[in-house]
Amino acid sequence: MNPEPRERSLQSDPSAGGSLPPLLRGEGDPHSLLSSFLRDLLREPDTGICLDFSKLGIPGRAFEEYRNPMVPVFLRMTELEAGAIANPDEGRRVGHYWLRAPELAPEGLDRPIRETVERVLDFAERVREGRVRPLRGGRFTTLCLCGIGGSALGPQLVSDALGGGTGALTFHSLDNTDPEGILRVLEGLGEEIASCLFLVVSKSGGTKETRNAMLEAQAFLEARGLRLPPQAVAVTGEGSALAERASSEGWLATFPMWDWVGGRTSVTSAVGLLPAALCGVDLRAFLDGAAAMDRATRLPDLDRNPAARLAVAWHLLGRGRGERAMVVLPYRDRLHLLSRHLQQLVMESLGKGRDLEGRPVQQGLSVYGNKGSTDQHAFVQQLRDGNDDFFVTFVRVLEEGSVSGLEVEDGATSGDFLHGFYLGTRAALSAKGRPNLTLSLPRLDARSLGAVIALFERTVGFYADLIGINAYDQPGVEAGKKAAGKALALRARILELCAREPSTLSSLLDRLGIEDEDEAEIVFLLCEQMLANPARSGLRLDDGGRLAAAGRGGREP
Ligand code: PA5
Repeated sequence: MNPEPRERSLQSDPSAGGSLPPLLRGEGDPHSLLSSFLRDLLREPDTGICLDFSKLGIPGRAFEEYRNPMVPVFLRMTELEAGAIANPDEGRRVGHYWLRAPELAPEGLDRPIRETVERVLDFAERVREGRVRPLRGGRFTTLCLCGIGGSALGPQLVSDALGGGTGALTFHSLDNTDPEGILRVLEGLGEEIASCLFLVVSKSGGTKETRNAMLEAQAFLEARGLRLPPQAVAVTGEGSALAERASSEGWLATFPMWDWVGGRTSVTSAVGLLPAALCGVDLRAFLDGAAAMDRATRLPDLDRNPAARLAVAWHLLGRGRGERAMVVLPYRDRLHLLSRHLQQLVMESLGKGRDLEGRPVQQGLSVYGNKGSTDQHAFVQQLRDGNDDFFVTFVRVLEEGSVSGLEVEDGATSGDFLHGFYLGTRAALSAKGRPNLTLSLPRLDARSLGAVIALFERTVGFYADLIGINAYDQPGVEAGKKAAGKALALRARILELCAREPSTLSSLLDRLGIEDEDEAEIVFLLCEQMLANPARSGLRLDDGGRLAAAGRGGREP
């Protein structure tokens, strides 16, 4: 897929305002050798974030064809921001853009948004200064977030990318119901368990993984003479089981999560803001960066709107069917969780089996990645020489962070090598016609990260509209939750029957009344797992090779 000659500029007036990279400000006409490259750069002047579309192999006329189709897309985005029910399957409004521009929120919503930001800042300050403190004295030093999906990935990214500084809590998370994984984190806290603030985040307040992590943390604390409530804070929807628990047990605080904010776009709500503030992130700058990008991506202009441009590029590259995966390669360790955050944002939003008219479709856009140049020694080999089924999104940060400055070779630092490897991989992929684009950030700070997250949130919204699906529901996630519930109910029934009378697997299937092959498999898999953990499950094979369970609930008496 070799880049074809471009026919028009991405920037309607390349010399205008801040759209030109600062490097070229002193130039009259940039050198002719650069003109093609410069035409394909789109620089957002407020944040300085720049998108380089020059290596996508997409001719300008292809973008041009989207000018008309994008008109109603822009219009519907305006309606969404004005409070339309943009999530029809759940009958909900979609309001994450209001979180960073409360003045645009429908009447009555702006106040709670502003108040929540103030409460978050105030609470975080009191915790960090030791005015809200653990029962045994001192101050909270560690944060352990219990949450999953959209209630974990954003906070994980933000704290890992930006956390630190005086008084900042160190970040940990329990984002699964794996008891061994949970224990590893909790035991790893050592003495700090007494000064660990537990932040339980669940919009629905009923997600089992999160509930289980919370219960495991509670038991762990109690086994050490501590209690969860004086060390716990909740972020959840009004009236949820979690909200009720936090209130009846007298937790330190509860922050709201509104039904018009989706989990995967909740990082600028209390879900992301509270852990960020506790971990030392500049919240105002984070929100300000997101707001700046929102302003840019609100423009109904394909030439100047980076999210619209990106959505069209995704559409062209994957022929509107997600035929190419997006590989996210940030050249900065602090951004290594960006691919996981984007994976959820994009795949949970776009991976849908019905369009907005209810017709069956197969939609999605696969996302994977980790970081450069690490991945050059992992999967980049395949990207260059193997299947041509992806496009790369490089993320490059111009200013180095705090670095040693050590010259590792002839006047070059490790950072120079990092950038060199980015250039090398970009060149190697481009030479093979492998489509790639680069997102350049002037620096990695709260403002830039807020802007990057907002850029992709809007891109997902535009792209979903282009392919005619609802980006804001997650029926597949709900289906998985229901199926797991059924399997657990079946597990209890197996134990009950085997406690009453030992059974071969075949007779157990008959006794359970199973007639379906898939259900029979589930029974087999459940028994296999319980037999591997007999002391805990109570299920074992008796001398006759029959399944036998001890006592009610399966546990050994
Ligand atoms: O993006 C989403 O909506 C999901 O990934 C949810 O965040 C996830 O299922 C957790 O849900 P909850 O916050 O209700 O516990």
